Amino acid sequence: MGLRVSEATRDQAAALAGLTWGAYAPLLSWSEDEKRRSRAVSLAVWAGTVPVGLSVSVKGAGGGQNLLSLTVAPAWRRRGVGRLMLRATTETLIRRGGVTALEACFSDRLPGFDGFTALLAAEGWQTPEPTSHRICGPVRETFSVFRHRAGIIERLNREGFRILTWAEAGMAALAKVAELEATGEAPAWASPRHWLEKLHPEASMVLVDADGDVRGWVVCQHQAAMNRWYFPVGWVRQPQASRGWLLGAYAEGARRLGERHGQDTRVVVESGAGQPDMVRVLERHFRPHADWADRLMVSWRKLG
Ligand SMILES: CC(C)(COP(=O)(O)OP(=O)(O)OC[C@H]1O[C@@H](n2cnc3c(N)ncnc32)[C@H](O)[C@@H]1OP(=O)(O)O)[C@@H](O)C(=O)NCCC(=O)NCCS
Repeated sequence: MGLRVSEATRDQAAALAGLTWGAYAPLLSWSEDEKRRSRAVSLAVWAGTVPVGLSVSVKGAGGGQNLLSLTVAPAWRRRGVGRLMLRATTETLIRRGGVTALEACFSDRLPGFDGFTALLAAEGWQTPEPTSHRICGPVRETFSVFRHRAGIIERLNREGFRILTWAEAGMAALAKVAELEATGEAPAWASPRHWLEKLHPEASMVLVDADGDVRGWVVCQHQAAMNRWYFPVGWVRQPQASRGWLLGAYAEGARRLGERHGQDTRVVVESGAGQPDMVRVLERHFRPHADWADRLMVSWRKLG
């Protein structure tokens, strides 16, 4: 039977939802305006009236486009559908213009990891590289992990430091973040500004000193669809960075979440290649208590 590739339409959303992750299925019902704003491109492959594949991508950082998901119905795998969708996505983006690369960021625990990486290699994508570690577990477990929590928080307070919520710190903190970025002290990866739309103002934290000066921050996003709280970024200025105060800020965030939402609340902490110390701590102390741990891999293909 011949295969047909077409852009997914809103009225096909229910039929196609099973071919992407639950978190991305709502994209299929977006209005034309929402799609344009996010540069969403969802391509479906049909065998007659049966959907057999779906690719979903949206605007990423810089001029990139993020491939959020690429799925082929199990019975149709190894028949060229995945390749067809990747090529059609690439051609659509080139035709529309303004996109420099198609990128994929995916877990090394993805059930289809081997097939997906083989497909990317066959289509000339960059060899996937690890970008960060993630660890997921219940808030309760952070008490056994942060054994020195009380000591760290006590020391912080003794030296006049405070951990505020982002809501308490307000716009002044944002101005300070911009200043630290402009001088190059805060690295680009640590910027909370990329997260502003998603940042939870009560669960994200800002560390300030006795003068009210910003010394660091922890970003937290509520991922309601996945029933978890995600900490993608945390950064503390020197000399506090080497004194475990970033851990103190995470510990405080976890304590507050537990208090407000219960000890079973799931948290995901992510740590990137720019933070080898934090990655070591996650691996050594958090992993034994985790529900799961993985590495996020990135791969991309330049367009044009
Ligand atoms: C990954 C996936 C999309 C591949 O789709 P597919 O239609 O089976 O792939 P194709 O038939 O187009 O494969 C094209 C080439 O990729 C490589 N490839 C694809 N799957 C492979 C596998 N399981 N093992 C080895 N090579 C594989 C091969 O080189 C293949 O060419 P060949 O069949 O001529 O040898 C599909 O397996 C899938 O839906 N997996 C589950 C979802 C998933 O993990 N998605 C990825 C991230 S969201």
